[in-house]
Amino acid sequence: MSQTKSSKPSAVQTTGHAWDGDIQEFNNPLPSWWLWAFYATVVFAVVYWVFYPAWPIASSYTKGVMNDITFLDSNGNRKTTHWNTRSALLRDLQEGKTAVLSRDYLDKVAAASYMEILGDPEMMAFTRSMAKGIFGDNCAPCHGSGGAGVIGLFPNLADDDWLWGGSVEDIQATLENGHLGFMPAFGEVFDDAQLDDIASYVLSLSGHAVDAAASERGKAIFQTNEGGCYYCHTHEATGLKSQGAANLTDQIWTIADVNGAADLEGKKERVKQVIANGVQRRMPAWSDRLSAAQIKLLTVYVHELGGGQ
Ligand code: HEC
Ligand code: HEC
Repeated sequence: MSQTKSSKPSAVQTTGHAWDGDIQEFNNPLPSWWLWAFYATVVFAVVYWVFYPAWPIASSYTKGVMNDITFLDSNGNRKTTHWNTRSALLRDLQEGKTAVLSRDYLDKVAAASYMEILGDPEMMAFTRSMAKGIFGDNCAPCHGSGGAGVIGLFPNLADDDWLWGGSVEDIQATLENGHLGFMPAFGEVFDDAQLDDIASYVLSLSGHAVDAAASERGKAIFQTNEGGCYYCHTHEATGLKSQGAANLTDQIWTIADVNGAADLEGKKERVKQVIANGVQRRMPAWSDRLSAAQIKLLTVYVHELGGGQ
């Protein structure tokens, strides 16, 4: 232990420099494979700086040369920019084989009339598969993935009953502009006995065996300016699509869960609640959130869900 390690004679070559008398510098050249790999990364970096976005300059950065990417922006216009991962991804999504096929087909469907789409099994199959995804993303949170809705909150789109009309034109207008389903509250207007009478009359319209005298009193309110129900629901009580007013003569209920009640008293109670509280619920407008082609696909899809009209 009397000798320090550094003073041992060494087999390694030194550079010939010495500090503090005996501190020497070894001359260990890097392995050549390492050195060449290092030079290669330097060359790669310089090439990369030239061709790809690389160096920050003030508030911008070098864009690189000869790396243009062309893709379609959200309005369907061709757009060319320097290379960047976002545009590269968009281009790949748009130019993949299936993407090109479905875009061409989408153009075909967008150009076709509703009559042509509805009469063409191939276009209908395409529409179903495309629209199912759009519906799932945008509509299912409220209407449910099968379109069955939630009674009282969101109407059932899978039945054959429409508040705002079930033709393709009506459905398209509903999707583009949205709707406010509004019925005033009558809880302050009528007393409990009167609400009872009106509910009895409403139930009689869909074939329920209610107290005849009560129903007559209710009818007098419904069909006159006292209640004014007929303004929106019509004298026949079949509803008015310009108001989105429900048909009260069928067995289909959108707000009052009549079919869910165990007995006639329960049904009457549920109808009474709706008359007393009124209705206010909104279907949002989609024309600024979905493209015309997407609205068209959805229109056909919803039309078919509900058996069309
Ligand atoms: C201003 C128009 C308007 C008036 C007036 C009006 N309603 Fe309505 N009513 C509606 C609309 C619209 C709906 C459907 C709400 C929705 O879902 O968009 C509705 C729904 C109902 C429902 C629920 C139907 C269902 O399927 O669940 C009942 C019951 C009803 N109205 C009864 C009446 C009675 C009784 C009166 C009179 C006292 C009346 N309404 C007056 C517009 C009106
Ligand atoms: C935020 C919840 C919500 C979303 C999301 C929504 N809706 Fe609605 N939708 C409603 C409500 C509430 C009504 C009922 C309006 C009324 O009472 O008149 C409605 C009504 C409708 C109607 C009219 C039904 C009839 O009987 O006339 C159609 C069709 C419809 N929605 C389709 C769609 C489609 C397609 C989408 C997706 C693009 C969608 N909705 C997204 C809440 C929603």
